[in-house]
Amino acid sequence: MSAPLLSRVYEGGAGAVVTKSVGPRPRMGHPNPTVVAVEGGLLNAMGLPNPGAGYFTGEIERLKEAGVPVVGSFFGASVEEFVEVARTLAGVGVDALELNCSCPNVEEEMGLLGSDPANVERITGAVKEAVNLPVFVKLTPNVADIVEIARAAERGGADAITAVNTLKALAIDVDLRRPVLSNTTGGLSGPALKPVALRCVWEIAECVDIPIIGVGGVSGWRDAVEFLLCGASVVEIGTAVMTRGFEVFREVAEGIRGYLAQNGFKEVREIVGLAHEA
Ligand code: DHB
Repeated sequence: MSAPLLSRVYEGGAGAVVTKSVGPRPRMGHPNPTVVAVEGGLLNAMGLPNPGAGYFTGEIERLKEAGVPVVGSFFGASVEEFVEVARTLAGVGVDALELNCSCPNVEEEMGLLGSDPANVERITGAVKEAVNLPVFVKLTPNVADIVEIARAAERGGADAITAVNTLKALAIDVDLRRPVLSNTTGGLSGPALKPVALRCVWEIAECVDIPIIGVGGVSGWRDAVEFLLCGASVVEIGTAVMTRGFEVFREVAEGIRGYLAQNGFKEVREIVGLAHEA
């Protein structure tokens, strides 16, 4: 995503923007088709296309000049690559980093990084040591026990957990009698992902002490409040930009404000995790 598009997200009322993940060098990504609409959401397998961190720094500089708070999402295929990209992004003034070790659509080794607690702890620790910035670790729901991975990120020094990345899924074209996506499988996002994401946030909130950033199927203020009540302190919105437009950010923010006022709360923090209380 380019700086002008991300600026529109900010102007739409978001508190900060999260970039599409960047890696150490340019990647073409997968051939088309890479996106298909499915019941309740989108399935995509872009394959982490990106111009490489070196080029992307220009876009971040433009965003910072415009005063936009930027979370730089990044990935690598090894500890060294994660550290290299984190340093590059830190060097151009991102406000925080989101460590994406959980893309469902890439080469085995890279895709599996986020499913192994030892790897997640090691990568998080190395990145935290290399940069002086908040680091959010974005987890995949495609594991038997997400709490185990969240704990590993916390041990590695993560400042927050982002839960969750997309759910590995498949769409079939009955006329072609083939999978729709060139990559065969893709990541499911949008409303269909929300109950899974809420369950993940709930489980993580019961077991870790660092803040949780909720993501997965937020398209209205009620969805956002659900995430907050489950234990998220903040929410991210992605797929709903396509269905609701850039105004979704302002609508959600105003909706949360209205909910707080109507229910006698002053601040978001008062309702974070409230659904856990007996
Ligand atoms: C892609 C990356 C992701 O992190 C994700 O959740 C879905 C798709 C991708 O670029 O293929």
